[in-house]
Amino acid sequence: MKRSVFLRSLALAFGSAALVAACGGETPAPDDAAAGGETGSGEVLRVATEPAFPPFESQGPDGDLVGFDIDLMRAIGEEAGREIQFESLPFDGIIPALQAGTVDAAISGMTITEERAQTVDFSRPYIKAGLAIAVPADNTDITSIGDLENKKIAVQIGTTGASQAAEIPGTEISTFDSAPLALQELANGNVDAVINDAPVTLDAIESGNIEGLKVVGELLTEEFYGIALPKNSDTVAIVNDALTTLMENGTYAEIYQKWFGTEPPELPESAL
Ligand code: ARG
Repeated sequence: MKRSVFLRSLALAFGSAALVAACGGETPAPDDAAAGGETGSGEVLRVATEPAFPPFESQGPDGDLVGFDIDLMRAIGEEAGREIQFESLPFDGIIPALQAGTVDAAISGMTITEERAQTVDFSRPYIKAGLAIAVPADNTDITSIGDLENKKIAVQIGTTGASQAAEIPGTEISTFDSAPLALQELANGNVDAVINDAPVTLDAIESGNIEGLKVVGELLTEEFYGIALPKNSDTVAIVNDALTTLMENGTYAEIYQKWFGTEPPELPESAL
């Protein structure tokens, strides 16, 4: 598929997702963390997430966690007989927490990269995404990554968008704790562009959460999200088996439909 076509189909997919989300048919389940850790049938699985990344993870009006990742992780817990207890962490604190063993897993729109795979293990890929450039809606001189040289760029700290921005010559990079804060900085006119995951930027624009921005050019990367787990932990196989079952029995497709309003794309069994 041509990249522009890919971007357009993503935009479509995530555009309708925003509509579905706005119609809000579903009452979100309470945040497990907020529920205070009563034990269910199985052993507790402590799962880290940075919850300002809709439609993958965000906080509902009552502080409860909602999103594709949240539903998927709950379904994995149900399948694996483990009680999921979410823990909100800064994105750049997630891998250190996995290494320190203070959490057992992380689902946070996290791209599977070679570099991260040195320190954590990843589940099989569960989402295909990629980075996109956002600019003010009335901007006409930035249309591709080549136009970002010597520009001011906002990114979320510790993300693949931040690494991508760091490779562009002459840029002045401002880092933020969350993607919405980076996008708001752009909407406020303080930077020239944001590099962030396309589905999240498109969702912010389509939902009206951030105004006056547009996505330009083609996707800069093709990325796959994985659930991150402590290196060599037994949980890797447990999570992968459950995820595979959900992909085979239609549950994964159901959750995908709920959030993105379309059939899931084919995913590779490994991203590296
Ligand atoms: N996919 C990007 C990465 O892995 C951004 C993820 C940010 N996730 C979040 N929940 N804020 O670097």
